[in-house]
Formats: sequence, structure tokens, C-alpha cells
Amino acid sequence: MSVRAQSKSPAARPRLLPGLAVKDGLVRHPFDLEFGVRTSGLVAGRHLKTGHRHDRHSTAYYGIAPSIFNAMLVRWRQCRHVVPIDQFTFVDLGAGMGRAVLLAAEYPFRAVVGIELHPTLARIARRNLTVWRKTGRAQAPMRIACCDAAEFEPPSGPCVAFLFNPFGAPVLRRLLTRWAQRFDGREGQLDLLYVNNEQECVLEEQPGFTRLFLGQIRRSHADAVADRKILTNQPDGEYAAMNWEDCSIHRWTGRK
Ligand SMILES: C[S@@+](CC[C@H](N)C(=O)[O-])C[C@H]1O[C@@H](n2cnc3c(N)ncnc32)[C@H](O)[C@@H]1O
Repeated sequence: MSVRAQSKSPAARPRLLPGLAVKDGLVRHPFDLEFGVRTSGLVAGRHLKTGHRHDRHSTAYYGIAPSIFNAMLVRWRQCRHVVPIDQFTFVDLGAGMGRAVLLAAEYPFRAVVGIELHPTLARIARRNLTVWRKTGRAQAPMRIACCDAAEFEPPSGPCVAFLFNPFGAPVLRRLLTRWAQRFDGREGQLDLLYVNNEQECVLEEQPGFTRLFLGQIRRSHADAVADRKILTNQPDGEYAAMNWEDCSIHRWTGRK
């Protein structure tokens, strides 16, 4: 007797988040096609409900353009550091399906951690991490924690926190207040990399952070073509594609 796995009926299959199905206009990013991971798709913030009080501040899920990520890392490494990169833990606050975590793990960080509020995205991210380990591309240990970024306890030791415009001002304020308390007396041990820095004013009004960089970072031609194709394929055309991102880098220099 042969045993065959029963294919699930469409009704029994868990529904994909809106924006992750082909019928929603999903176009796979070349990053996914090249590495066999799943980080493509655009999920509007209103579809990222988890029951958490911070849901309403969630912007959207969208994976970072690899060229923007790598250019940000180059900028950050040009800043003077008190300790070498292998002593820093990289924390992606709002990790989604983990594209930035995968890219960060290509650098020799002490560890790379992704914090994601939505359990479906966190589950997909964990699968991507497994694929990435098998490719041998990861130079750093990686993990995903499914929780609210503002409630996450920062790791001990030097830390670089990454934000790709994950949430609105109230969440960012709460997060910065907690991190400022934890890094009090540890000047130079916390850097923040902020891509698509819509809430830059929140950082400007937070005492103890010094801005090291403010400017636009351009996508590579290949990423610009890919992101334009993905965003113009959205059924409701809600998000626009640009060739650059407004970015900033901040350092915790302490309350004087
Ligand atoms: C623009 S995506 C960034 C994805 C990833 N960082 C990258 O660069 O590829 C923002 C992510 O932040 C998540 N998010 C929003 N609010 C959050 C919160 N309070 N805590 C943790 N994650 C949150 C969203 O679910 C979404 O996946």
C-alpha cells in the first residue's frame, strides 16, 4: 500500500497575509530567487494585527533593498568605534521575514537578533534563517524573537540597532526611553541605523543621542528596478517606489 500525503483543501490551508500571495500582486525579489529564501511581499500595516496595543502603529512589512542595507553598514563602519565589530550585537527592531537579519549575519557580528511582533512573519523569518545557515553565508549566530520591540530587553555589550521604518512615534519613543535607561553610563556602546527615517524628530528630541549621519542612500540599479516592479504591481498602488531612502545614524553619547 502506498502512502501519500493528503494535499490540504484550500479551505484547510492557513490564509496567507494579504500581500504575500500572487493574487495580491506578489513579485519575488531577485534576493529570494538567488538564495531560495522567502522575504518578498508588501503587507500593509492594517493587515498586521496581532492583538497587541502597538499594532496600530505598525507601518507595513517590506524587505530592505540589499544595496541600501549594505551601504548603511559601510557608512556605519566608517564611524569611529570604541570596540571592533565582532563585539557588537546587531538587533533588527521590526525584522519581518528577516531579510536584514540574513544580510547582517554576513558580517562578523557577535550575534544578530531579529525582533518581530507578527507571529506569521516571525515563523517565516525563522525558516529563512535555517536556509541561510545551510548556505554557509552566515558569519554570526542569528535568532528571531517574536515580541514587541519596545518591550525587548537590549542585549548586554555593544549594540547596533537597525530600524527600517517599522513603527510610528509612540512606539519609537517608548523604545528609546528603555534603551537610554539600559545604556546609561555606557557611552558609545549603542548605535542606531534608521532607514526611511520618518520619525527622525523623535530621535532629535530624545536627549543623549548624537547624530553621526543624515542623508539619502541610493538603491543599486538592480534593486531600483526590482522594487519598482514589485511596488507598481500592487493592486491598490498604495506605496511608491523611490530610488533612495532617507537615512540617519545616531550614537548614544549619554545624558550630559
Ligand atoms: C518595513 S518592515 C522591515 C523588515 C526588515 N527589518 C527588513 O529590513 O527587511 C517593518 C516590520 O516591523 C514590524 N513591526 C511593527 N511594529 C512592531 C513592534 N512594535 N515590534 C516588533 N515588530 C514590529 C512589522 O510587523 C514589519 O514586519
